[in-house]
Amino acid sequence: MTQGIRRSQCTSGRSQPEDLSLPGWDRARLGPLRTRRVVLPRSGASFRIVQPADIDRLLDLAAADPEEQLPYWAELWPSGIALADAVLLEPDTLRGQRVIELGCGLGVTAAAALRAGAELLAMDYSAEALVLTCWNCAWNAGLEPAVLRVNWRQPPEEVFAAAGFASVPVILAADVLYERRDVEPLRSLVERLLRPGGLLWLAEPGRATAASFVESLRDAGWQDETDMWPGPWPDANDATVAVTVHRLRRPGSAPGAS
Ligand SMILES: C[S@@+](CC[C@H](N)C(=O)[O-])C[C@H]1O[C@@H](n2cnc3c(N)ncnc32)[C@H](O)[C@@H]1O
Repeated sequence: MTQGIRRSQCTSGRSQPEDLSLPGWDRARLGPLRTRRVVLPRSGASFRIVQPADIDRLLDLAAADPEEQLPYWAELWPSGIALADAVLLEPDTLRGQRVIELGCGLGVTAAAALRAGAELLAMDYSAEALVLTCWNCAWNAGLEPAVLRVNWRQPPEEVFAAAGFASVPVILAADVLYERRDVEPLRSLVERLLRPGGLLWLAEPGRATAASFVESLRDAGWQDETDMWPGPWPDANDATVAVTVHRLRRPGSAPGAS
């Protein structure tokens, strides 16, 4: 399931989800929308994020999904906020670089990456997530990323050939490791997409699945620098969540690097 790389730029921020076209996308599935203001804990940067207002409705629709995917893309997650913050505190790491985000959700991290000057390809399982990522990026960064609908458990060759994005220097991923079945596919995908010496910038809220993923990379010689984000987060239910942001450096050096 990959459907189309979509590249566009929007400078006005006036587009509506209805104006955005993506194969597999159905406006009716989103239901009513609401806008939340998100203030990043350290940088203080502010975002307006559009998200579905009725999650129960999306849960009902998810019952028909062949992969039994729940609509996690529709929520604001502390990890996405922390990674957005980390990116804006260190924009030089992304400026002018080809960057892939895995599991972009509503696009908070994607908007920060575009603000930092990345040339971004955002991927997600959900077409609705990709559409809202485009919209939220247009609103918050005045730009949209290229997007690709993909199931990372069965990534087709198109992912690796995607518009010159193969072997990128930076991959972003926030709270994508919560199911055991994803540890191996995500490791294999990262190893195929990230160049030697490249950076996997991974935010995770302390889930065992993420810990075993990180451990497997460390065992393979990746360097890991970590930083903690204790919040505050927009949702009161997340008050006790602490996010670890990992800078995982792949061993080796980029071809041509001295
Ligand atoms: C917990 S959400 C995190 C979203 C966003 N990164 C954030 O932190 O706000 C996990 C994201 O991964 C995506 N995802 C889950 N399984 C996937 C798969 N097999 N292939 C592609 N994307 C997937 C979901 O659709 C969702 O957007």
